[in-house]
Amino acid sequence: MSLEIKEITKKFGALVANDSINLKVNNSEILAILGENGAGKSTLMNIVYGLLPADSGEILIDGKKVEINSPADALAVGIGMVHQHFMLVPVFTVAENIVLGHEQSQRGVLTLTDAKTKIKRISDEFKFEIDPDALIENLPVGVQQRVEIIRALMYDAKVLILDEPTAVLTPQETDELLNMMRVLKSKGTSIIFITHKLREVKAVADQIAVIRRGKVVGSVDPSTSQEELASLMVGRAVDLEVNKAKISLGGTILKIDDLNIYDGSGRTIVSNLSLDIKAGEILAIAGVQGNGQSEIARSIMNLEAHVTGSIMVDGTEILGNTVHESIKSGIAFIPESRELDGLIGSFSIAENLILNSHDIEPFAKLGQLSKGAIVDNATKRVKEFDIRTQSIEDSASSLSGGNKQKVVLARELSRDVRIVVASQPTRGLDVGSIEFVHERLLAERASGRAILLISTELDEVIALADRIAVIYRGEILGIVEPSVTREKLGLMMAGVK
Ligand SMILES: Nc1ncnc2c1ncn2[C@@H]1O[C@H](COP(=O)(O)OP(=O)(O)OP(=O)(O)O)[C@@H](O)[C@H]1O
Ligand SMILES: [Mg+2]
Repeated sequence: MSLEIKEITKKFGALVANDSINLKVNNSEILAILGENGAGKSTLMNIVYGLLPADSGEILIDGKKVEINSPADALAVGIGMVHQHFMLVPVFTVAENIVLGHEQSQRGVLTLTDAKTKIKRISDEFKFEIDPDALIENLPVGVQQRVEIIRALMYDAKVLILDEPTAVLTPQETDELLNMMRVLKSKGTSIIFITHKLREVKAVADQIAVIRRGKVVGSVDPSTSQEELASLMVGRAVDLEVNKAKISLGGTILKIDDLNIYDGSGRTIVSNLSLDIKAGEILAIAGVQGNGQSEIARSIMNLEAHVTGSIMVDGTEILGNTVHESIKSGIAFIPESRELDGLIGSFSIAENLILNSHDIEPFAKLGQLSKGAIVDNATKRVKEFDIRTQSIEDSASSLSGGNKQKVVLARELSRDVRIVVASQPTRGLDVGSIEFVHERLLAERASGRAILLISTELDEVIALADRIAVIYRGEILGIVEPSVTREKLGLMMAGVK
């Protein structure tokens, strides 16, 4: 099946999110869409999937115009979509989630038994290895995503839209997904694939469309070099290499001793962990997601409930403080999940930019919020971090995925702190923004802060870190130099000493 997007235009107020977009994906073909944060990719896909109405333009399937006014319409004509943020209910099983999706599409009743049979058939056909009775919350992210793909395939999707499917996957899960895409394609499915990772585009795409500020600015083939793709995307040359200066280390700022973290049912998540980070040092914790690294970051902010041991900042114990006190003790925190811990979606961008500082000068004076200072701050940060928005008064939830991340980064990296705890700081960012964030983190390092970097991106870890602690099942398996090879690091992350 082929899908053609013709002259689609979509405005939000004065902002033209999609400007007369023309694109076509042919039968059994993978079309990759590249574009900077806020370029209009998700908006366009939401229109194709019937979640948003276009202002003008049309969609053609196999050359014939179709009317798509809801996801049910999209599914009916063979279009399936996996969203940038998963839409599964964690406490339900795989089969229950899929039946739930079916109800929403109003296509008659699907019994649980029917669903299970169909899930097994699809899972076998595409080698997904999915158990229909597994609880979603017990599945790794990569597997949850396969469930989303199955959900789309349940309705016989012939065109599958994947909006940044690899942003939350481990390198291994990513490779598995790319393989699945090849299998789907070989069986006749067409795929629209959105990603910020140029390597992935080059690995699977048949053609590449680049969108910038709502317009298609180029259609290129996968032999195009990463440098060319990057500059086409952001409209300027991007340095894909990180240039790290040598600097001398200062005294120890963060000292973690014998840290133990347990979950609510008493299970050990992190055991007997000790680490220290000096002024001017980036210590990276590398590991496959789910090995305790998120909990370590959260425990430094006192966001974890069951923790023993010691966490000192400049020689003062901070474990057991309130979150508010943690912030005041000089810690910048870039959380892994900006949606959950980083932003308040219904608050304006300006308000989100002062979330942790609303009670101190210059934002608060004599117990009153100072509107002028808040506006000045927001205007400055939006410019400095290139946050793409029409107005600082817009809600944070209206921002594109990458721009939400930039709001969190702008707020946290603009405070005067001693330590930066950065969990997946470049997740979902375009290459230009990644370059910028890396430069900012290195500037923090140069100004003598201690930086704890938690990242599943091996390239990022190797490029930025002064030392790399590899975590496996809640324990530090070893600390290595950044001159380590990707292969050795990968093996250690898999638990090989
Ligand atoms: N509901 C909305 N109201 C106002 N503006 C919106 C709304 N939805 C999207 N936008 C704006 O439209 C533009 C395009 O956003 P979109 O989410 O399509 O970007 P994207 O290319 O998917 O970016 P990313 O790579 O960060 O996910 C952004 O400037 C965004 O702020
Ligand atoms: Mg998007």
